[in-house]
Amino acid sequence: MQIQENISLKAYNTFGLEVKAKLFSAFRNTTELTDLIGRTAQETKLILGGGSNILFTKDVDGIVLKNEIRGIEKVREDDEYVYIKAGAGETWHQFVLFCIKNNWAGVENLSLIPGNVGASPMQNIGAYGVEIKEVFHELKAFHIHEKTNYTFTEKDCGFGYRESVFKKKYRNEFVILNVTYRLNKTPKFNVSYGAIEQELEKMRLEKLTIAAISQAVINIRSSKLPDPAQIGNAGSFFKNPSVAKEKFEVLKNEFPGIIGYENEDCTVKLAAGWLIEHCGPQPSGSWKGYRNGDAGVHSKQALVLVNYGNANGNEIYELSEKITDSVNEKFGVVLEREVNIV
Ligand code: FAD
Ligand code: EPU
Repeated sequence: MQIQENISLKAYNTFGLEVKAKLFSAFRNTTELTDLIGRTAQETKLILGGGSNILFTKDVDGIVLKNEIRGIEKVREDDEYVYIKAGAGETWHQFVLFCIKNNWAGVENLSLIPGNVGASPMQNIGAYGVEIKEVFHELKAFHIHEKTNYTFTEKDCGFGYRESVFKKKYRNEFVILNVTYRLNKTPKFNVSYGAIEQELEKMRLEKLTIAAISQAVINIRSSKLPDPAQIGNAGSFFKNPSVAKEKFEVLKNEFPGIIGYENEDCTVKLAAGWLIEHCGPQPSGSWKGYRNGDAGVHSKQALVLVNYGNANGNEIYELSEKITDSVNEKFGVVLEREVNIV
């Protein structure tokens, strides 16, 4: 494999940020990966999938290794489930469509999430009432320093809301090679997320199917999330924060419109988009639709920070700091970033 030098990463991150990698190469299997790691032993490594959850604030002084391991195969089947192994470099949404075509259920609510299969366990991707941990069976990962393969079960991954052991504890230690998902042969529909129910009603279906749920999710997402091909972004920039129930009651008294959902542990998860919409420097008292140069807050979804063209990563990062301070000042709630900062 060729190792390229001084490569622009603009096409490799959905924020469309113009940064450079000192070295860059792609790998299609473990042999190529091992070879590349051996040839660049002294260099810092950054594993890249679709670049849809990364904010580059500087050039990468090391090697960017783009995961292009492909392949989808059925590895096992029983009365209830099929076990499907997908290469980390497969496009997530293509994988979802493949499952829907075969009538294997479980990932339809996760339609249209950008990025690759390999990153799906990184932050336990989630949307519209489903998280990847619900269909996760196991993954294979390569330890960069030990140069050996490990198998991680669901328990090993330490999945939480937008969290796993790979995001913090083992950050940059493992390369996820493939993921095996456990999909239902008989669909169990999950339409509990309010927006899906409303969208399905609009679609006037004769029969509920996983394809219909997927289409409903695609419709909702397309109506409010910016398409990275048009406006640079990485989806939700922050996580939805959880607060104690008592704190929620106090906030609700002061701000009756505030949106919160009770968690299983009796804390309340607040809609960060609402908080960001209801504070800020604009005459409307909001951050929603704010723009400074080419860095801004999306006009239809305040949780999404955008690059209108030529913003740099630091401008977006600084905007995120201002939003964090502003939310904390008004609501006494600290936002945590979801996006990986490099
Ligand atoms: P990258 O951005 O390439 O990488 C993300 C992190 O994972 C980096 O730290 C990288 O080093 C690491 N990584 C990537 N691949 C590997 C690998 N094979 N092995 C080890 N480490 C790896 N996320 C949701 O959860 N729900 C949503 O609804 C959602 N909606 C989005 C909407 C939009 C418009 C956008 C732009 C993003 C959205 N996201 C959402 C965020 C993003 O799509 C997901 O986090 C996705 O899983 C990132 O995949 P990726 O391949 O682009 O990862
Ligand atoms: N809201 C506002 N103002 C806004 C944005 C949202 O008031 O500007 C309100 C909405 O009206 C709604 C509530 O907040 O009542 C929740 O909004 P939405 O359904 O759009 O979801 P979200 O909480 O903003 C989360 C995920 C998304 C995921 C959707 C759907 C996080 C950080 N974000 O967004 O994931 O697609 O739910 O399940 O959990 C991502 O992680 O990148 C991402 C896009």
